[in-house]
Amino acid sequence: MKRNAILKGCVGVAVKKDAPKIIVQGGSRLSGELSVQGAKNSILPLLSATVLCQGESVLHNCPNLSDADAACRILNCLGCKCARDGNTVSVNSKEVLNTDVPKDLMREMRSSIVFLGAILGRTRQCKLTFPGGCELGPRPIDLHVSALRKMGVSIDEEGGFLSCSAPKGIQGANISLTLPSVGATENIILAAVTASGTTEIQNAAREPEIIDLAEFLNKCGAKISGAGTGTVVIEGVEQLGGAEHTVIADRIVAATYLCCAAVTRGELVLKNVNHGHLSAILPVLEQMGCSIYTYNENQLYINAAKLLSAPHKIITSAHPGFPTDAQPMFMALASTLKGTTVFVETIFDNRFRHAHELGRLGAKISVNDRVAVVEGVPRLVGAELEASDLRGGAALVTAALFADKTSTITGISHIERGYDDITGSLQKIGATIQLTMNN
Ligand code: UD1
Repeated sequence: MKRNAILKGCVGVAVKKDAPKIIVQGGSRLSGELSVQGAKNSILPLLSATVLCQGESVLHNCPNLSDADAACRILNCLGCKCARDGNTVSVNSKEVLNTDVPKDLMREMRSSIVFLGAILGRTRQCKLTFPGGCELGPRPIDLHVSALRKMGVSIDEEGGFLSCSAPKGIQGANISLTLPSVGATENIILAAVTASGTTEIQNAAREPEIIDLAEFLNKCGAKISGAGTGTVVIEGVEQLGGAEHTVIADRIVAATYLCCAAVTRGELVLKNVNHGHLSAILPVLEQMGCSIYTYNENQLYINAAKLLSAPHKIITSAHPGFPTDAQPMFMALASTLKGTTVFVETIFDNRFRHAHELGRLGAKISVNDRVAVVEGVPRLVGAELEASDLRGGAALVTAALFADKTSTITGISHIERGYDDITGSLQKIGATIQLTMNN
């Protein structure tokens, strides 16, 4: 699923004439070796962090994703010069000429809210659209806003816009989050690195992507400690320079390929993974009956040839708990296992939309609010499916690999937000899958 990166221009949203589809002929047992791409959820805050750097930053292992392209377009729009060469993106932020993020770019990528802290940190002002609801349900930003206000930022919310300014500068503050929001933790860190004084975040998100962001910023001259724990301390510094950094591996993409191997009862070597980041995922696969060997620091092997059984209960929670982003692919896998699995989604309101589409393949799933009960079935049959969000789309691909006959998946722009060539990767390990641009 290779696309041309669009890095220039403020808007220029790519318009595709024909809706592309993924066509999957299920039933092939996957076997082989894959290298995992860089993490989408790291690259977005890292690209926004480059706004703070008065120099050039070079980010390696940048996946080729539509969300990363959108972040690069935002950077260009701000006056930073962003260019991609393969999987390396360089950003020259010597000059930041603009402090507003255009509405259509904000809409293109909901997580563009993470630019707020970085633009404010660099220019002391920023105007962007208030992100509305999204495919996973409402995505409020009250925690971002109240933390920034505590740091001396004045924020007006009017007509769907957030107009922010800190004419007297941003001040360090003690912030206790009521829930460990990933985006709020990132925005506070970004606003705090060049603030005056020290900021302490209590109940901070502990996701590996927060550590990656802090490591990059520290290379640029920031003073951040405690990233990856519930208490992050940021001592403000005068200014940041640029730095070179390699993006961590995408733990959710790793989880996706592990589910794809398991659903076909296949075997797979995954390279470029961080075993520690998969600490909630691997035990569930083992509980199902998969054999997993971790070796060489960043590789692992999965074999799912044994008779697999349902894992009973999967409850999503903030890191280091079971990631909500992996729930859809595990639901697809559980649909094919002997026994019943209960999924409890504790992070997002509307994260079972894939359950209905999986039902079209013959999966037996009943959903009640934030609980889904999956009764495994021995056979799924190919159908026409529509992805309505990123990981839900990956779940449909996972299930289609198991289903007899052919499945056609539309709505794949959602999948392209987070997977760099999912069809090519799966073809490489034996899947009969193709991307087509025809209607
Ligand atoms: C990030 C990830 C996303 C992942 C999610 C949870 C990125 C780009 N996205 O999203 O893939 O699924 O973490 O691991 O990194 N909330 C509020 N008020 C706020 C902020 C959040 O109520 O101000 C709520 C949200 O509605 C949600 C929960 O907190 O129910 C978690 O959200 P958060 O951790 O902020 O997720 P994101 O940063 O949006």
